[in-house]
Amino acid sequence: MPALVLLGAQWGDEGKGKATDLLGGSVDYVVRYQGGNNAGHTVVVGDQKYALHLLPSGILSPGCTPVIGNGVVVDPAVLLSELSGLNERGVDTSKLLVSGNAHLITPYHTTVDKVTERFLGKRKIGTTGRGIGPTYADKINRVGIRVQDLYDESILTQKVEAALDFKNQILAKLYNRRAIDANKIVDELLGYAEQIKPFVADTTLVLNNAIDEGKVVLFEGGQGTLLDVDHGTYPFVTSSNPTAGGACTGAGVGPTKINRVIGILKAYTTRVGAGPFPTELFDEDGEKLRTIGGERGVTTGRDRRCGWFDAVIARYATRVNGLTDFFLTKLDVLTGWEQIPVCVAYEIDGRRVEELPYSQSDFHHAKPVYEMLPGWSEDISKAKTFADLPKNAQRYVKALEEMSGAPISAIGVGPGRDETIEINSFLS
Ligand code: GDP
Ligand code: IMO
Ligand code: MG
Repeated sequence: MPALVLLGAQWGDEGKGKATDLLGGSVDYVVRYQGGNNAGHTVVVGDQKYALHLLPSGILSPGCTPVIGNGVVVDPAVLLSELSGLNERGVDTSKLLVSGNAHLITPYHTTVDKVTERFLGKRKIGTTGRGIGPTYADKINRVGIRVQDLYDESILTQKVEAALDFKNQILAKLYNRRAIDANKIVDELLGYAEQIKPFVADTTLVLNNAIDEGKVVLFEGGQGTLLDVDHGTYPFVTSSNPTAGGACTGAGVGPTKINRVIGILKAYTTRVGAGPFPTELFDEDGEKLRTIGGERGVTTGRDRRCGWFDAVIARYATRVNGLTDFFLTKLDVLTGWEQIPVCVAYEIDGRRVEELPYSQSDFHHAKPVYEMLPGWSEDISKAKTFADLPKNAQRYVKALEEMSGAPISAIGVGPGRDETIEINSFLS
């Protein structure tokens, strides 16, 4: 089983960090292929809790080589501070590899991200303010700065000047902000260059060779399917492709090399930031999910919007990612409800709709059609096998599996590494 993709099946925060970490001990490489430090992946190892933003969750597994692929956007200051934070806690980070083709987030990208959001007012996306969108925009506009540019001062200076020529006009004339000095940016970036140099590598070559040698490579998505710039709830999305195809472009590995695609699926739904969310709850059930599930953002500290499980979204994730398996997380959070509503379809302008509508206005009008499933009250956090779960929890899992279109191969019953029920091995 040489190459697997592990990605979010909903709007992010499904528990990807925990799932990646769980497999980390058995895989040779864990690769981030898109996004940047907008991600917040929590990993709990014993009594230690780690919040990773940019680094792949595999960094916590000693045998594993963590890789930041070409599709990732890298804030060099964040990279270095995350590395030193882990070093201080005794984590060896020396194996990290960073693609020379990955684009850099600079201070002007974070500035543009924040002023753009302010300018949008009530139409804002609710971004993480980490400069993600503006950095990807520069990449597509061919005025981005790449990791490899740190090692050619003349090219770096030319590129920063070119990018700022245009941006300073916008900042000064449109947003009434002070222009940014190109030399200051160049000096700051050069200040990071030597510390990052030991990690820079031709990661596509390394990864393709590894797969050819039968090594196990895990591609770890940030964000989630519904935040994908092509397949998500545009424009309320991030600026990259968290969906499975993103692993190919964002790591330079062909689709023929990928054997398995695992969707991480929360047993209910959450979303951070603006945008449509059909099963969102505004009542005490929503508050209960938020409190019991600890649904507060790891990156921005914002409360997550909470709602019931949405099978239409899960089916859509199966379709656009070609999912082979689901990892169902946070089942334990649902303990204590007498009945649990599950959204099986939408009603849009009086019509029943089974598939995610492609039209944005239809999706904004979608009302959930719920089916009630019986709940359970027993503590399930110690369950080790499917048979250990109360009958109604088993029924809930089986019902979700039937509606979602791919087998549920693991179930999370708590945040810890060992609080997992493994049904089918991901690595066989
Ligand atoms: P990610 O962004 O997909 O990695 O997810 P986050 O780390 O942002 O949010 C998931 C949260 O749920 C974290 O606090 C995890 O520690 C926690 N978590 C993951 N799996 C489970 C589970 O099965 N049960 C419970 N109770 N918590 C979990
Ligand atoms: P992980 O990897 C949840 C959301 C933001 C905003 C939108 C665009 O922890 O699941 P951006 O800063 O990316 O331009 O913001 O995307 N968002 C996330 N929501 N989990 C994440 O990452 C997210 N990363 C971005 O809240 O709505
Ligand atoms: Mg998160």
